[in-house]
Amino acid sequence: MRTRIIGTGSCLPETVVTNDDLSKIMDTSDEWISSRTGIRERRLVKEETTASMSIEASKRAMENAGVSAEDIDLIIVATITGDHVTPSTSCEIQAAIGADRAVAFDINAACSGFMFALHIADAYFKSGIYKTALILGAETLSRIMDWNDRSTCVLFGDGAGAAVVRADDTGLLAYDQGSDGAKGMVLACQNRKNNNPLVKNPMDMEYTSMDGQEVYKFAVTKVPSSIKKVLDEAGLTVEDIDYFALHQANIRIIQSVAKRLKVSEDKFPTSLDHCGNISAASVPILLDEMNRKGLLKPGMKIVLSGFGGGLTWGSAVLEW
Ligand code: COA
Repeated sequence: MRTRIIGTGSCLPETVVTNDDLSKIMDTSDEWISSRTGIRERRLVKEETTASMSIEASKRAMENAGVSAEDIDLIIVATITGDHVTPSTSCEIQAAIGADRAVAFDINAACSGFMFALHIADAYFKSGIYKTALILGAETLSRIMDWNDRSTCVLFGDGAGAAVVRADDTGLLAYDQGSDGAKGMVLACQNRKNNNPLVKNPMDMEYTSMDGQEVYKFAVTKVPSSIKKVLDEAGLTVEDIDYFALHQANIRIIQSVAKRLKVSEDKFPTSLDHCGNISAASVPILLDEMNRKGLLKPGMKIVLSGFGGGLTWGSAVLEW
């Protein structure tokens, strides 16, 4: 038994914000942002919410997969920016699409979240508990950015990506995941403060903060080693892989990973230029764009890799 992706969908907010737009409200420039990151514009929510984009992405993925709400056993949303602490975004999706039979819950593994959700679904399938799942990465990161901090807010965007996965004869061939909580604070965001009058709140860090260079070093060493691990486990080499769909954090990270793996950058499709970094949503949005462009053909071997907050990372190699 393997876990196969049988449909994809995504949803981005309507509002496009270019680097030039940002340079009108803060001391930055298109040249600084695009040369260091590859990002030219991102979509940011106005009316949209994490749930509304997730619901739309789910409907598109189900239509693409040819499944109905009754077919869905499990819904997992990877997010750090659900609209509510409870109910979960996955429960909101369940209600909206009428997947009454499904079990629904959210997970937090930041930018690796979609990869972790894929692995959880795979474990459920292997144990025989469920057969069909809807898995998503969905974020409204613009809500947790400090818009006075130009070193972080220019990097991120909003959006949702979904995939329908099913127990099948082919699909996921190998998987690697890991966490390094000891380095967690290099990319951090505080939750709601405790306003209980009996408690003194010692923390004063409300929005996202990042040590960009530490995150960069982590990504360019951990991602190639994680990808090599899944390839070894699957008995494949980089030459066997048609595409490497990586978390879209920074074009320099992607170029460095390609160089370290000795693979042409042409095999690394990107959505970074028009999406920015959308944390858990990056990989499924990129996958949906590749799918809808007709890049993915049955039998192709694809590597997926996510990395980021936690710190966390997860890679998979799968047959399409
Ligand atoms: N516009 C203009 N200048 C900016 C700026 C912006 N948006 N953001 C920061 N700067 C300035 C800094 O203030 C600093 O100025 P100074 O030298 O006068 O102090 C200068 O640019 C260099 O800043 P620095 O942080 O050293 O830049 P960098 O070369 O490390 O690049 C990143 C910053 C964020 C692009 C880079 O560290 C990176 O890509 N890290 C990985 C981050 C990531 O991908 N995170 C998500 C992972 S899931």
